[in-house]
Amino acid sequence: MDLGLTGQVAVVVGGARGLGHAIATAFAAEGAHVALLDVSADVSAAAEQLARDGATAAGHVVDVTDYAAVRAAADAVQARFGRVDHVAFAAGIGSGKFGFPFWQLDPADWPRVLAVNLVGAVNVAHAFAPAMAEARSGTMVFLASVAGQIGSQTDPPYSASKAGLINFAQCAAKDLAPFGVRVNALNPGMVKTPLNRSVWQAWADRQPPEARQDYESWTAEKIAKLVPLNRWQTPEDVAAMAVFLASTRAANVTGQTINVDGGYVMHW
Ligand SMILES: NC(=O)c1ccc[n+]([C@@H]2O[C@H](COP(=O)([O-])OP(=O)(O)OC[C@H]3O[C@@H](n4cnc5c(N)ncnc54)[C@H](O)[C@@H]3O)[C@@H](O)[C@H]2O)c1
Repeated sequence: MDLGLTGQVAVVVGGARGLGHAIATAFAAEGAHVALLDVSADVSAAAEQLARDGATAAGHVVDVTDYAAVRAAADAVQARFGRVDHVAFAAGIGSGKFGFPFWQLDPADWPRVLAVNLVGAVNVAHAFAPAMAEARSGTMVFLASVAGQIGSQTDPPYSASKAGLINFAQCAAKDLAPFGVRVNALNPGMVKTPLNRSVWQAWADRQPPEARQDYESWTAEKIAKLVPLNRWQTPEDVAAMAVFLASTRAANVTGQTINVDGGYVMHW
């Protein structure tokens, strides 16, 4: 299926690794030019690899919590590529603690998670939306999480940040619709990435030795119990939905919360 993304410019925030990297790779495979933004210095190597594979790609080190830096990166992308057609926000962190019950965490564990996962996305939207509105076209997709839909107890600041992000995606979708810009939230379920592993690690750190399980068996149990399709989601599953949402095949889809989660959450 030709998604018609050839020659378009996609910005992937959190593109150095994990789901963001898979999304950047999928955009590149569709013939899009790709700008990767990430707090990790690995973003340069990730962009260089995409370029070696034939894409036009650039990497920018930027912390999404620093609005001035995000704006500077947006200016740099505009200067390099002349336009921005799509923004995918895939940066994200957890608190690093197992938050069940929530008072296992300290209130001080909340601000950084909200700053990256929610305000970081807001910073990115502020930096890129005006040019898209002026161009009267474009798409944004925010990677939220099933955790934002079900009051997941695993990491309360993470869950709350994702619920906020889903809500902000709806606000942005309404504001940008008159300008022909579409905005959606994309919720992965369980994907083997460093972030997913850190959730298990936070759990394991709190268990007495006799209750510990390794990552594979802990997650396999969870998936068997909670995921109707009884399988992991892959980075490619998530990336396929991200590029579809960016394409004109999804021209009538905005303000939606789309789960790629094997049926973990079903809503109507
Ligand atoms: N892996 C899963 O199972 C899963 C499930 C649901 C939702 N998600 C969401 O998908 C997104 C991607 O997750 P992932 O699993 O690929 O995680 P990951 O940890 O593998 O990648 C996250 C990327 O975000 C970058 N990042 C972190 N803080 C940043 C900051 N302040 N500024 C700029 N970049 C920053 C990291 O350097 C990293 O490259 C996240 O928003 C996550 O919450 C993941």
